[in-house]
Amino acid sequence: MISKDKIRQVLTTIKDPELQKSIVELDMVNTIQIDETTISLDIKLAVSSYPLKDKIEEAIKRTLLSIGADHVSVTFKAMSSTERQALTEKLKTSMTTPSGLPKLLRPGSGVTFLAITSGKGGVGKSTVTINLATAMARMGLKVGILDADLYGYSIPNMMGIQEKPIQIDHMQLPVQGHGVKVMSIGLFATENQSINWRGPILNKWIKSFIVNTYWGELDYLLIDLPPGTGDIAIDIATLIPQAKELIITTPHNVAAHVATRAGTMARYTKHDIIGVVENMSYYMEKDGSKNYLFGKGGAEKLAFKLQTEVIASIPLGKPEESLTASIYDEDSYIGEVFQSLAEDIVYVTKKHIQDNKEQTIKNLGHH
Ligand SMILES: Nc1ncnc2c1ncn2[C@@H]1O[C@H](COP(=O)(O)OP(=O)(O)OP(=O)(O)O)[C@@H](O)[C@H]1O
Ligand SMILES: [Mg+2]
Repeated sequence: MISKDKIRQVLTTIKDPELQKSIVELDMVNTIQIDETTISLDIKLAVSSYPLKDKIEEAIKRTLLSIGADHVSVTFKAMSSTERQALTEKLKTSMTTPSGLPKLLRPGSGVTFLAITSGKGGVGKSTVTINLATAMARMGLKVGILDADLYGYSIPNMMGIQEKPIQIDHMQLPVQGHGVKVMSIGLFATENQSINWRGPILNKWIKSFIVNTYWGELDYLLIDLPPGTGDIAIDIATLIPQAKELIITTPHNVAAHVATRAGTMARYTKHDIIGVVENMSYYMEKDGSKNYLFGKGGAEKLAFKLQTEVIASIPLGKPEESLTASIYDEDSYIGEVFQSLAEDIVYVTKKHIQDNKEQTIKNLGHH
């Protein structure tokens, strides 16, 4: 006969797919009944219409059958509001340091923050953000996108995400698309509702995206900034001083000139600039020759001014319809350009981390 203790013990190996913590730890296991080799479980869910409950049921059945149960029946019920609050508290505690700082933002969190910025609108920030993120996810990295373009949010649409975020009390879970976790105001807006808020409220949203969003484990968090150097960029800089910046420009001299402002801003906020990405660099003709429709050299000039380098040139091209309107197929020419950009960024940022570690070790050695 299987004991309740044994059952509880094996249930600790089953994680909630969204929260990535064991269902026992999350107090989701309500009652366990054993009748010879038939086990009946009652599971409590934080949200009654939890889309992943089938996955939990499947994992429970598989696990209990493997320890000798003949029959497993699982029923679900919703947590009471007190239970839900307790769960939120638990999650919150797991996310913040005793002083209330989000663990995500701690220097040792292991998360690399990449702010995608430009001086001008429409140069391809969001396109680069989503394609870079998907490329990183393909490399097996845990990647999130924070859509900080609160007025002009476009990430959910561009990634073809229609789901709404799960909300538990005042906490929200990011929505997954193409292996990437996404948080955006667009996920909360109904129809193309325009967002007309001012400074303090914007600041609240940005904070909430970091403090009240259960990101789980992350290697990279990409931040799609609005164009230019407004309040939101400053809020992000204040909240995430360790963010690194990727500056997007088109080859056009004017765009490159305006982009210098974003660069100057990065200096002001002390964000490291990883490099310049030139988008819409050229059009690849059928014969394989490159047609530089918008001129040449703007990105180089910009990189020179900012004492950095052009780390990618992305040609003009329409994504295949196979994915969504804005994600380039992995095997397409542009898809490969993004893949190699992702690999370079991972290499550069990891190296950064390594350098810092070595410096710390050296410093310690002197004392
Ligand atoms: N390399 C490219 N080839 C063809 N079209 C592109 C390319 N990059 C971006 N686009 C298109 O250009 C438009 C602007 O791109 P995107 O929305 O990524 O720019 P953005 O900088 O985020 O704009 P905004 O400032 O409005 O947020 C989109 O319609 C996008 O599909
Ligand atoms: Mg955009």
